[in-house]
Amino acid sequence: MDLKSEIRKRRTFAIISHPDAGKTTLTEKLLLFGGAIQTAGAVRSNKIRKTTTSDFMEIEKQRGISVSTSVMAFDFNNVRINILDTPGHKDFAEDTYRTLSAVDSVILVVDSVKGVEEQTRKLMEVCRRRNTPVMIFINKMDREGLNPFDLLDELEKELNIAVCPYTWPIGNGKQFKGVYNLFKEEVQIFAPEKSSLPESLICTKDIKDPRLMDYVGEDNINKLWEEIDFVKDMFESFNISLYREGYLAPLFFGSALNNFGVLELLETFLEIAPCPGPIQASERTIEPDEKQLTGFIFKIHANLDPNHRDRIAFMRICSGKFERNKFYFHTRSGKKMRFSSPASFMANNKSIVEEAFPGDVVGLYDSGNFKIGDTLTEGEMLNFKGVPNFSPEILKEVINLDPFKTKQLEKGVWQMTDEGVAQLFVQQPGNRKIIGTVGELQYEVIKFRLEHEYGAKCSFSNLPFVKACWITTDDKKELEKFIQRKLNAIAYDKENNPVFFAESDWMLKLARENFPSITFHETSDFKILKK
Ligand code: G4P
Repeated sequence: MDLKSEIRKRRTFAIISHPDAGKTTLTEKLLLFGGAIQTAGAVRSNKIRKTTTSDFMEIEKQRGISVSTSVMAFDFNNVRINILDTPGHKDFAEDTYRTLSAVDSVILVVDSVKGVEEQTRKLMEVCRRRNTPVMIFINKMDREGLNPFDLLDELEKELNIAVCPYTWPIGNGKQFKGVYNLFKEEVQIFAPEKSSLPESLICTKDIKDPRLMDYVGEDNINKLWEEIDFVKDMFESFNISLYREGYLAPLFFGSALNNFGVLELLETFLEIAPCPGPIQASERTIEPDEKQLTGFIFKIHANLDPNHRDRIAFMRICSGKFERNKFYFHTRSGKKMRFSSPASFMANNKSIVEEAFPGDVVGLYDSGNFKIGDTLTEGEMLNFKGVPNFSPEILKEVINLDPFKTKQLEKGVWQMTDEGVAQLFVQQPGNRKIIGTVGELQYEVIKFRLEHEYGAKCSFSNLPFVKACWITTDDKKELEKFIQRKLNAIAYDKENNPVFFAESDWMLKLARENFPSITFHETSDFKILKK
């Protein structure tokens, strides 16, 4: 098959949600439909459960296994589907944001009872920023949920995206009877597993079917027609360009747990979701069908075996064909690299891959050369955009508890922050190391890993900051003045860019007002512009 056909065949996406909305259940159901797994539970067992800091050992345990669900690739109807897993736990949100830089579209799962939640908002912000095409699955329709009109209104307002219902629910909770598919113009009846509903009623175009009236009830059918008229008036009709540009989200109602609406979602996804497209590097736009290989590292899994310090770096292929044992150019170090056992992932199985194509993700064994955002090419100097760091929300100073292990501590902190576990900032005088994260759990993970993998001991001391912003300006004098004035709140990231720590949003606002010539960046994307 030629390169263009390989590209057309691929769909690379992520399923995202606020924890508990049903992401794992939906992923599993898609894998079951795709024939990639035979039994439910395969994905679930790898899930980092809702946990408190005391459960971080659980995370350690899961880290090893969850490598196999980092990418779930399978073929369905002659399409190669790559589902990139995103951690459900909110403390690992940064991992999720980075994974979103490696997908071509997403499916957002929303709990019909809870509506838009905190993580839904944040994840969608990242998608909107990148114009990622989004499909929405309203899950748990078997529960008493919000009124669908209210829910859609909330989605549009809070997520800043237009929605286009593909299906419309008939009742909800105990009264959930099914959905009307506005495109196929047919009713699909919801049949909970133990129901005695005849098979023939599961899907019908005959709205007057007496059995339908019997099961759904005349009132419900009449209400449905009224609602459908409203829906057609109120919402955008489907437009594939608007969807592909990330402005319009086709929306489905269903229940992942009960297998309802999942196949429908998958089929529509295959019809409309984009195949790998052009990707922007800071130097130029890369087209997927360019002959030469390009790709970037968006995730690193480290020290799977503590005795060997081995890591797997996950590379999204952007263009060309990846081949085992061929030399590639690592643009940050200028080194040539060759991979003798690159891994591909098929649901739960890992195997050595001989070749891979745009949209695919390969796992590269690495002894410490890679860092998140690194680019591989066949010689061209390229840096891919879009694996930014986000302003951490928690900042703590590392306190070294064993002065004889200072070097090990340095190395551990440096390597872990290369992997993207957290961000490192250094403050002078005294070379104080400050770790920034979006979740408390990370500190437990770092402490544990420093001790077990690097033999170093540390504790963390809380700092009164809630935000870290990278600061840039053309006015060097003004920057110096600002740095002098805020010395206690200034540190430097690993590339020596100055960062301002704000004690509150209000302090940040004040700093912005008092120093208008300085730009305060809440993500590190500005570095790309600098290059
Ligand atoms: P997440 O990955 O987004 O965190 O969510 P997950 O799939 O783990 O689902 C969270 C909970 O919601 C699970 O229950 C799951 O069974 C339930 N769930 C998922 N889809 C539906 C649905 O369509 N209807 C209903 N009623 N529930 C649904 P749990 O009790 O927390 O876990 P478990 O014991 O079932 O594993």
